[in-house]
Amino acid sequence: MTFVNKTPIWFMRQAGRYLPEYMEIRSKNSDFLKLCFTPDLASEISLQPIKRFDLDFIILFSDILVIPHALGQEVKFLKNHGPLLNPISSIKDLNHTSLNKSLNKISNIFETVKILHTKKNKKNLIGFCGGPFTVLNYMIEGGTSKTHNKIKTFVKNRKEEANDIIKVITEISVEYLKKQIESGANYIQIFESWAGLLERDEYIDFIIKPNQKISEEIKAFSKQTKIIHFPRGSRDRYKIFAEEVNCDVLSLDQTYPKKLPSILREKGIIVQGNLDPQELLEDGERIEEKTKEVLEKFKNNNHIFNLSHGILPKTKISNIEKVIKIVREHETPK
Ligand code: CP3
Repeated sequence: MTFVNKTPIWFMRQAGRYLPEYMEIRSKNSDFLKLCFTPDLASEISLQPIKRFDLDFIILFSDILVIPHALGQEVKFLKNHGPLLNPISSIKDLNHTSLNKSLNKISNIFETVKILHTKKNKKNLIGFCGGPFTVLNYMIEGGTSKTHNKIKTFVKNRKEEANDIIKVITEISVEYLKKQIESGANYIQIFESWAGLLERDEYIDFIIKPNQKISEEIKAFSKQTKIIHFPRGSRDRYKIFAEEVNCDVLSLDQTYPKKLPSILREKGIIVQGNLDPQELLEDGERIEEKTKEVLEKFKNNNHIFNLSHGILPKTKISNIEKVIKIVREHETPK
């Protein structure tokens, strides 16, 4: 052993409904999007998990659905229901006249990032957006869907139109990320949560190409900004994703096998993940076992500890603390 490496740690959806201090602010603010557009409150919420757990990364409090809102689509968050969008069925349904006008509608978010930048101390600050296909999924489905029939049919039968909308989403997402970087984010994460829905050819056109376009543009704009990609559900396509898309960090879901493709080490890609958030719902020794299993699995890679998806609302604070303690006490020989 030459020296000892500490694994940095944060959690997807670390600011959210499992936190009583979040619920307190949320109970006084029924309009979720408005909360995202209120810099004082949004920055306070972003910092809640840092104050409580001293995590290594701050993530901006916002949502991936601010982009459909910016593009003129009606987006609401109903209590105990999740997001509800007035679904589009064609690019013509979008009221998107100019990039600047659209970005102006969500410019308060950049104020939140600026506040966080002044308060970040030595922490990393993550800005984010949804992956273009994942955003398209919500725009077409109109909300959370079990079957995803509408988006699957749309992509199959109206490929060109899907591509045109993906281009619009990609273009605005790039500008949106650039403004977050200008405001102080030193990491950005692209949440392509529904990458797993697509067939192979569609995966190339709708996941690989737009995600690579975002990487390319962001690296041309700011070489030092670290890019985290999260193409959830990619299964055996993580390898091709890592080959084709420029990522500094690849965030893996829980299905990912023990043996990682050698390309990750060859390209020096940091691995993020991948403890299943379901594991945090149960008390007992299993949490320790599963946390250590993740640390062991990635011991030969550079690793950022995280979950395979967001923290679930019913998660106990004590279980989060347990995971953090195990990760912090663990020393990785490198
Ligand atoms: O990680 C963080 O703490 C930063 C904030 C953040 C939120 N949403 C806050 C939020 C981030 C990074 C997101 C990303 C997001 N939003 C994704 C990608 C990651 C994923 O979960 O796959 C997606 C698909 C969305 C869309 C969305 N927003 C859904 C489906 C829902 C409802 C269901 C749920 O999980 O809560 C939201 C609402 C939302 N976004 C909440 C929070 C804290 C809960 C809102 C509430 O207070 O009621």
